[in-house]
Amino acid sequence: MDSLNMAVSQWREYVPRWTECMFMFTQETYLFTATIMALLGTTIFIWKLISGPSHDSREPPLIKPTIPLFGHVLGMVTQRMSYFSTIYERHKVPIATLPFPGKANIYVIFSAHMQQIAMRSSSMVANERTVELIPRLFGVKKKTLLAWLGRDGIHEDMTPSMVKLFGSTLTGDSLNDMTLKSLDEISDILNGIGETGLHIDNLFMWLRYHVSHAVSVAMFGKRHNPYGNSTEVIDGQWDFEADLGPLVLGFLPAIMARRGYLGRAKVHEALRPYYEGNHDEEDEVSDLVKARGQLFRKWDTPVDQLCKNEISIMLASTTNTVPTMFWYIAHVWTTPGLVEELRAEVAPTIPCLLGPDGIRKTPPPGTKEITINFTKLDPNCPLLASCYREVIRLASQILTFRRVDTDMVIKDSDGTSYLLKAGNDVIIPAKVVHRNRDTWGQDAEGFNPRRFLPDPSGNREIDKLRKISFVPFGGGRHYCPGRNFASSENVSVMAALVLGFEVEGLDKDNLRMEDSKMGQAAKPVAGHEGGPCVIRRRRGWEHVEWKFAK
Ligand code: HEM
Repeated sequence: MDSLNMAVSQWREYVPRWTECMFMFTQETYLFTATIMALLGTTIFIWKLISGPSHDSREPPLIKPTIPLFGHVLGMVTQRMSYFSTIYERHKVPIATLPFPGKANIYVIFSAHMQQIAMRSSSMVANERTVELIPRLFGVKKKTLLAWLGRDGIHEDMTPSMVKLFGSTLTGDSLNDMTLKSLDEISDILNGIGETGLHIDNLFMWLRYHVSHAVSVAMFGKRHNPYGNSTEVIDGQWDFEADLGPLVLGFLPAIMARRGYLGRAKVHEALRPYYEGNHDEEDEVSDLVKARGQLFRKWDTPVDQLCKNEISIMLASTTNTVPTMFWYIAHVWTTPGLVEELRAEVAPTIPCLLGPDGIRKTPPPGTKEITINFTKLDPNCPLLASCYREVIRLASQILTFRRVDTDMVIKDSDGTSYLLKAGNDVIIPAKVVHRNRDTWGQDAEGFNPRRFLPDPSGNREIDKLRKISFVPFGGGRHYCPGRNFASSENVSVMAALVLGFEVEGLDKDNLRMEDSKMGQAAKPVAGHEGGPCVIRRRRGWEHVEWKFAK
């Protein structure tokens, strides 16, 4: 019995110790296993980070960054859009694969021929990348976005309806109506210029406000224009535009992109009563804004989400148009003799200037009103149109994005083929083809007003190459639908300015182009906008009222 008791008591002691021991063993094993797993995970992560995604020899040549891992990211941050030109100049390849740590590869296309193929390819999709960014950019909820993309199981994909809508509301009468409304706003400014002229401290900032205001009236109507008549909301819109980069990153935007974040909030605040009051349905509003409102409501979009997204209307319609107009005026007025040539070209489009002995230099005495027909300018004024294209060639630093949807083979003009794998992003940098010396000549970096006139040597090959190397508006299914609006606006304002005004004081040596941060048209470097200037009426044109018509 004693021995039995002893055995029981030993067993009682043993069991808890064994359990404790087992527990400790289990705990240690668990800790050990967890440590091994963590180490393994970290090693795999670092290895993936270092090695990047795999690269098939049939893909475009791999260009590793000079600084391992983050070199390409650093290059893009520090050199902005010039980084792609740097890569091209260094490697002279028609297409490249850039590895990004832990990410899919990115293909960058430098060859004009392959850029055209990519923009039109049905094996690539345009929206995947931008769509992912919409919640971060505009503050729209993911849930709303999924409904628009037809990924919520209720709605169908809105994209085809939206693309169709651009086609119908940015052409024909809808386009003319919008163009005239914005030009009416500009003519009010020109007509208000008195004897002492209009003194401007900073031409870029001046245009930024007035062109944005004119466009906002054309888009949203005058009565309930959310952008109003003060600089506050328009400045908010441009603060937002300036911070698109950090907003896209999505890391603590309220701190890291404070100005843009607050600017965006200001615009949202202004758009809210506009959409809550259904002012987008009123007669004076552009067909574009009306149709978008209708489409979003059809997709059950809550009004707060609608007004958040519609900050994009002014973004698309001013971000490139305003810098383009700035460079247009700056180049024309700082190129000796050009203004006179343009005057001689535009004058014959104005009936009252057609005198019995030729073209008059000033309107006949008593002329009160001069109307510029914007549809007449492009076909009748090749130099005016050439200057505009040349300005966009230099200023446009657009990056067009596509994502490879299904594996495809892309072929260059010399027959070389490259495999592009599904899931990888494609970047098409306009700056590289727009500044290529082999295409545009040794003066490719400079402004040549005659560059877009037909080549006098009649060299068809070079004409063809230049045609496909001019891609400021992208191409394919997503070819910019606002290009005609931007061009009519720019060319008409220039026609009125050269005919009836002088822009005095712009200093060529104080004009410096900044590299675009996010692939928009390049702005001037702050402090290098050409200095103060004065817009004055020309002698003989003092009492003319300016009007625009189609
Ligand atoms: C000089 C001025 C402009 C330039 C350089 C420009 C450039 C571009 C580019 C490169 C694209 C992308 C095309 C692609 O992905 O293939 C685009 C798209 C677009 N642009 Fe413009 N744009 C300008 C003016 C405008 C204006 C004034 C508006 C509106 C009135 C506008 C509205 C749009 C819209 C809605 C899209 C998206 C089209 C789609 O995804 O189907 N743009 N623009």
